[in-house]
Amino acid sequence: MTTVTSQRHPGSLLKELDLTKDQFLGLLATAAKLKRGKNGGSETAQLTGKNFALIFEKASTRTLCAFEVAAHDQGAHITYLGPTGSHIGEAETVADTARVLGRMFDGIEFRGFDQASVEELADYAGVPVWNGLTNEWHPTQMLADILTMTEHHDGPVEEIAYCFLGDGRNNVARSLLVTGALLGMDVRIAAPRELWPPTDVVDAARALAAVSGAKVLVTDDVERGVSGAHFVYTDVWVSMGESDEKWATRVPQLLPYRVTEQVMSATGRPDAKFMHCLPSVHNADTDLGRRVRDQFALDGAEVTDAVFESSASIVFDQAENRLHTIKAVMTQAFDA
Ligand code: CP
Ligand code: NVA
Repeated sequence: MTTVTSQRHPGSLLKELDLTKDQFLGLLATAAKLKRGKNGGSETAQLTGKNFALIFEKASTRTLCAFEVAAHDQGAHITYLGPTGSHIGEAETVADTARVLGRMFDGIEFRGFDQASVEELADYAGVPVWNGLTNEWHPTQMLADILTMTEHHDGPVEEIAYCFLGDGRNNVARSLLVTGALLGMDVRIAAPRELWPPTDVVDAARALAAVSGAKVLVTDDVERGVSGAHFVYTDVWVSMGESDEKWATRVPQLLPYRVTEQVMSATGRPDAKFMHCLPSVHNADTDLGRRVRDQFALDGAEVTDAVFESSASIVFDQAENRLHTIKAVMTQAFDA
């Protein structure tokens, strides 16, 4: 039996459900300011001398690079702990690791499997802990995504409608659902019934919507899902940590939810934008893309190459905004 040595640090970011609408929008405002500062050459370092541990139990390009560049831009140092090479999870508990890292570092990022692990890390570390993706939630992605939507929409967030198509149970879909509900947006999930988000997540979204005025729709009807949407969003059909064998069931399940030019047209908005957290299977130019092509005779999976490469696609704006939003999370953690 271990004892909790300290309260969770208020600068932690573990899941969207922990934030108020004002806190979420406050992080976006900070991120927009940091972005202007960096692009205008007037960024000032607020984290000089701080040390951050970046724990990655799963692969990452954007999240790792965003945390690392954000730290460097702000004068902080990072230590990377990858899927192998440390004792975490293998020979040392999360609680023990948290108490060790909390003695050495000023903040800890964690990407891994169970949400319970990042929550336990926050319970024991005593320093800010930031969720860089778990099986359940991807909160730093949401900050980047909503910032990107606001950059491509004239008007308040409450006016924005977006639809996620694909595996509605995955981290990104769940996060999009509760984030839209928190912020009073019009959020839709279009997925086959067997891949709808779990009931507790839909209930949480509906409870938030009752307060925020959000519209929440979970449907298996693609046309209904995307009609009127400003943003059409998808994600990989098989997430990290799931077995490769899942592809055999997911392809037939999700093929009707693939984002094609017809789906983009079905929004009824010629200016509708395409979003994806990335990485994406949109052609056969990767090992995974080649396996999908060879096994299922499909060139790309969740989105066609035509949509991915079209002028409607704002996926690289999203990727860039991971940096500015993660920097906002880090800097604001120490204002808390
Ligand atoms: N979107 C995202 O989290 O990307 P990475 O897996 O590359 O970090
Ligand atoms: N749902 C994806 C998101 C990757 C950023 C995964 O968990 O693999």
